[in-house]
Amino acid sequence: MIRLETGRPTPEARRVLLGLTGGVAAYKAAELARLLISDGLEVQAVMTASACRFVGTATLQALTGRPVFTELWDASVANNMAHIDLSRNVDAIVIAPASADFIAKVAHGRADDLLSTLCLARACPLLIAPSMNRQMWENPATQRNLRTLRRDGVTVLGPASGVQACGETGMGRMLEAHELAEAVHVFFQPKPLEAKRVLITAGPTFEAIDAVRGITNSSSGKMGYAVARAAVEAGAEVILISGPVCLEAPPAARLVRVTSAQDMLVAVKNETPHADFFISVAAVADYRPKSASEHKTKKNDRNIMLELVPNPDILEYVANLPDPPFCIGFAAETQNLEENAEAKRRRKKLPLLAANLAQEAIGAEEVALTLFDDSGKHPLPKSSKIEQARRLIEHAVPLYDKWQNFNSCKK
Ligand code: C5P
Repeated sequence: MIRLETGRPTPEARRVLLGLTGGVAAYKAAELARLLISDGLEVQAVMTASACRFVGTATLQALTGRPVFTELWDASVANNMAHIDLSRNVDAIVIAPASADFIAKVAHGRADDLLSTLCLARACPLLIAPSMNRQMWENPATQRNLRTLRRDGVTVLGPASGVQACGETGMGRMLEAHELAEAVHVFFQPKPLEAKRVLITAGPTFEAIDAVRGITNSSSGKMGYAVARAAVEAGAEVILISGPVCLEAPPAARLVRVTSAQDMLVAVKNETPHADFFISVAAVADYRPKSASEHKTKKNDRNIMLELVPNPDILEYVANLPDPPFCIGFAAETQNLEENAEAKRRRKKLPLLAANLAQEAIGAEEVALTLFDDSGKHPLPKSSKIEQARRLIEHAVPLYDKWQNFNSCKK
């Protein structure tokens, strides 16, 4: 849950008008309402007549703790102006599911029921989560309507591809409730990294010994993926280069999967020329077998020797480029954390490094971090990895601005 992950009190609750239109995915909107509320948002549900055929107003009323509006002519609204009032008091309108018909209506500025009228009379951003059969999605008319909406500044969330209620498979499935809740959460975050490209490495690497065996480490990738999520929230375009992990990448990030340190270096080299930031969170193996056997090594009774050769230091390579991105390193130490971390920062010529105790950090949900930069050390008391990632980005942004100014004066 996003709210539980942040642990941060919301200064003033954001208000969202959640609009449901007619689609099977309306059942997911009930879960979305629940997730938005547990993220600290106030949710006002409005349903079209067709939406009411799929889920009951009682469900949404119970989940949001507010009466659900369905009628344009609702006498309970004092001035009989439900279509104006409801959209005035919210920070965003989120339509989930957004049917093909509803998308067509909004694209053409029609207002023949409460929800479409609210969209037309709104003074706030509009986010829609399309949900329809794949042929309806692919129809040029739908695609034309979506282009119109995007041009009008509407944010389109998804859809995804997959098995549909009609039994067909293809594009048009509404995003899952947790993905939509995250997208709404991200939408409300400040965007200090807008238009910045952030390259992040995460997870362990796997160095093959033979066809089935290899050397790896116990990095879970949780910290790197949290940093990717925090960078997306801050508005960055994120490229996440990940070793083998079992985690879901933030949908807005571009995921590049790699296996070995050498693969990771190649992927990093491809992406670095366009990056503004390089955040090296991966636990890159320091050594790899000198040669990997193509076939599975057969067992016998004798000892075998494995010769290891050093891997390239990816972070050091990037930080020493003639025109490097702003580099942030991570150090996981088991002892003498501070001395080792600061020594590593200086050796790798990094403006910023985050250090943690390996035995406490690896695989854990929460971690204590210490940031090291030219002004000294900055402890970040134990918290969830996503919260620490947000603090790291917050700390890095002003340093990046200073670093950028200094570099442009040198040129
Ligand atoms: O292994 P070490 O403790 O030196 O790692 C510190 C930093 O260097 C981390 O940010 C890690 O991702 C990076 N690193 C790297 N390539 C390596 C080893 C470490 O980029 N071969």
